[in-house]
Amino acid sequence: MKTVKVGMVGSAFMGKAHSVGYRDCAFAFPYVKAVPVMKEICSLLEDEARAAAQRFGWERWSQGYEHVISSDDIDLIDISTGNNTHKEIAIAAAKNGKHIFCEKPMAMNAAECKEMIEAVEKAGVVHMIDFNYRRVPAVSLARQMIDEGKIGTPYHFRAVYLQDWIMDPDFPLVWRLSKDKAGSGAHGDLNAHIIDLARYLCGEFDSVCGLMKTFIEKRPLLNQEPDKPKKMGSVTVDDATVFLAKFANGAIGTFEASRFAGGHRNGNVFEINGSKGSVRFNLERLNELEYFDLTEDQKYQGWKTILVTEPVHPYVCGWWPSGHIIGWQHLFVHQVYELMNGIAEGKSPSPNFYDGLKCQYVLDAVEKSSANEQWVKVLE
Ligand SMILES: NC(=O)c1ccc[n+]([C@@H]2O[C@H](COP(=O)([O-])OP(=O)(O)OC[C@H]3O[C@@H](n4cnc5c(N)ncnc54)[C@H](O)[C@@H]3O)[C@@H](O)[C@H]2O)c1
Repeated sequence: MKTVKVGMVGSAFMGKAHSVGYRDCAFAFPYVKAVPVMKEICSLLEDEARAAAQRFGWERWSQGYEHVISSDDIDLIDISTGNNTHKEIAIAAAKNGKHIFCEKPMAMNAAECKEMIEAVEKAGVVHMIDFNYRRVPAVSLARQMIDEGKIGTPYHFRAVYLQDWIMDPDFPLVWRLSKDKAGSGAHGDLNAHIIDLARYLCGEFDSVCGLMKTFIEKRPLLNQEPDKPKKMGSVTVDDATVFLAKFANGAIGTFEASRFAGGHRNGNVFEINGSKGSVRFNLERLNELEYFDLTEDQKYQGWKTILVTEPVHPYVCGWWPSGHIIGWQHLFVHQVYELMNGIAEGKSPSPNFYDGLKCQYVLDAVEKSSANEQWVKVLE
């Protein structure tokens, strides 16, 4: 069996989530075309990397990314670090001939994405972006239903991605709240996901009209001495971004990303309305897809909930008998399954760096639109 030796950069939140993907890929899908081997994990902090290696099941650890990307026994570099490091690590990894799996948003802006694409094209390596929500069985099923014409011509794409983790004004100025480290706030973090879902399920964007807002502009700096007066720093990203969209196929969209939506811990919800029917999805009920069939006899019409746990549903055959539900971590197993097959076949699976760039074009257009208070055409 072909193997892919993995080097993971980042050992915190996504480092852990991706580790589940590598650990369980061949367990769930024994027929996968290449089996991942968890070789090395690294982090800025040696203690964190060592602990992660021991807990998540990596053979060895290192500090910084230089060792892992220059090791001869590594085939794939997984970039699970902050957004301002993606470009540098991806280009260095591609130069060393490594395949790349990169977290979203792909980079800080479209110019950086293009540099990354140039590097992977030159190196001829496989690349993928972690837009993991495509891999929810219910979302993949929605895509199949759309391909089968079940909703007809799409009219509306309506999506929200809502969180509430920074509503406390005393919450400190972490990297996600600084433009030079994160690129943007709720926008690149959350809208990136629903923009990708819109491209996956509805089609390409034509133009956008956005509004970005920072509700709390100063926050305490990190790591301060407890009894001293608090030093404050500026929040330089959006706390919430909403935008309207026109799609190339004539559909229209509304998008809302916020970290100030009290009561919403991680609410990723979308609905698509077409000429023949509608589908809607809610991450908090990720095993379900709701479907309204407008072609059904009106007497019996109504929203129906499909429990997406049948062997005929996408990815479900890797798991349990009908009705035995799965969770959020399984999305990373499905991503790794697609990535391993892609590497075995020498083909970048979708979503790849080209999808990352297209998403970035939309993100950038919304920022420009918000700054200029006008509609902006999305680059192709
Ligand atoms: N797909 C998703 O659902 C999802 C969810 C959360 C975050 N993300 C994305 O994942 C990425 C990481 O987010 P996170 O929440 O895991 O961040 P985090 O702050 O929890 O972890 C970042 C990790 O990267 C390491 N790191 C940073 N620079 C490094 C370097 N130069 N060399 C080696 N290690 C380095 C840190 O030590 C840390 O282990 C971001 O791009 C974020 O947008 C994606």
